[in-house]
Amino acid sequence: MTAFSAPRPDLWSLDPGVLHLNHGSYGAVPRRTLEVMAALRAETEANPMRWFRSVGDRLTASRLELAAFLRTDPAGFALVPNASAGVTAALAALPIHPGSRIVLTNHAYGAVLYAAERFARANQAEVAVVNVPLEADDATVVAMIGAALDDRTAALIVDQISSATAMVFPIRQLVELCKTLDVPTIVDGAHAPALIDAPAEDGADFWTGNFHKWPASPRATAGLVVAEKWRTETLPLIVSWSEYDERLPERFDMQGTFDYAPWIAAPESLRVLEELDWPRRRMHLSGVIDEGAKIVAKALGTSVAEVAHPAATMRLVELPFDGVPSPEAGEAFKIRVSRDLKAEITLTAFDGRVFTRLSAHAYNGPKDYELLAERLPTLL
Ligand SMILES: Cc1ncc(COP(=O)(O)O)c(C=O)c1O
Repeated sequence: MTAFSAPRPDLWSLDPGVLHLNHGSYGAVPRRTLEVMAALRAETEANPMRWFRSVGDRLTASRLELAAFLRTDPAGFALVPNASAGVTAALAALPIHPGSRIVLTNHAYGAVLYAAERFARANQAEVAVVNVPLEADDATVVAMIGAALDDRTAALIVDQISSATAMVFPIRQLVELCKTLDVPTIVDGAHAPALIDAPAEDGADFWTGNFHKWPASPRATAGLVVAEKWRTETLPLIVSWSEYDERLPERFDMQGTFDYAPWIAAPESLRVLEELDWPRRRMHLSGVIDEGAKIVAKALGTSVAEVAHPAATMRLVELPFDGVPSPEAGEAFKIRVSRDLKAEITLTAFDGRVFTRLSAHAYNGPKDYELLAERLPTLL
C-alpha cells in the first residue's frame, strides 16, 4: 500500500466502532483542526476583549488561504456559514422582476429550491424546474437546461455536484451558454471544494461551496465567490457594522457577536489534506468507492446507479425498497442502520428510486464497504 492509499482514520476522532460512510452530509473534522479550534476558543475565553480585537486580521489571513485553495481571486471571495447562506445572499443580490422565472433542475438541493421559491414569491416571479435524467451526459444536460432559458429567466441555479444524485454538472458549458443569453448564474458548489480543482473558475455570477464537507474544515465554513459586476450589491444576510464597507470580503467578515473560531481554524484542514497527498488520494478513493459500491449493490441484489459523470468520491447504490419511503420511514431506517448495524449512511430518492449515497474520505478503506455489504442485507 502506498502512502496516499492507506486509510488514515487515526487522523480523525471518529468512533472506530462505527462505519462512517456518509462524509458527504456533514463532513468530519480531523483531530489537528479540532485542536487548533480548541486553542482558539481557550484564547477567546481567556480574554474575550482581546480576542475580538484580533478577529479581523485573523479572518483576513484565513480568507486568503481559503481563496488560494479554490484558486480564486480573494477580492471576490467572502466567508459565509454554509452553502444555503451563499445561495440566499446571491438570490438577494439579483434583480428578480415580476413575471420572471428562476430556473433550477430536479437535482437541486431541497433547501435551495425553497430559497428560490421564497425569492420568487416575494417578487411575483415563478420557479421552473427542468427534469434532467440521472443518466444524462453533459451535452444532454446543457441542451435540456438551455431549452428552459429565455428572456424571462431571472437566474439559473445549478448544482456543480448534486446532493441526491452525486452527479457532476457541466458548469463551464452552462455558464458560457448563460452569458450568451444574458442569464445570471448561481452555481451551488456545496460539494465541490476538494472534489473539483479550481471549482469557482468557470465565471459564474455567483458560486458558493462548503469547506465543511470534503475539505474537512470545521462547520460552519463556506465561501461565496462573486463576479465583479455584482460585488457592490451583494450583502451578508446579517446586517452588522461592516454594512457600508465597499470591499466585498470585508463586508461579510463581521457578522455581529459570532463564533469565528471555525473560520479561523478552517485552513488547518487544508494543510491536513495537503499532507494526505489529496489529489492523488482522491483519485485512489474514486477506485475504492467504485469497488465498494459494487460490493454493496451485489450483496443487496441491486445495482450502482449509472450516473454519466459521478462525483469523485460518492456513489449511489439502489436499495430494494418497494417505492419511496415517507421521510419518517426513511429516517427510521437510517436509525436502525445506525443502532443495529453500527453504520452511518444516508438515503436519497430520485425519480421514484431510492438509493444509499455512499462516501469515501481519507479515513475510509475497502473493508468499510465489505462490512456494510455483510450487514445491510440483514435489515432488508
Ligand atoms: C448540493 C447542496 N447544496 C446545498 C447544500 C446545503 O449545504 P449547507 O447545509 O452547508 O448549507 C447541500 C448540503 O448537503 C448540498 O448538498
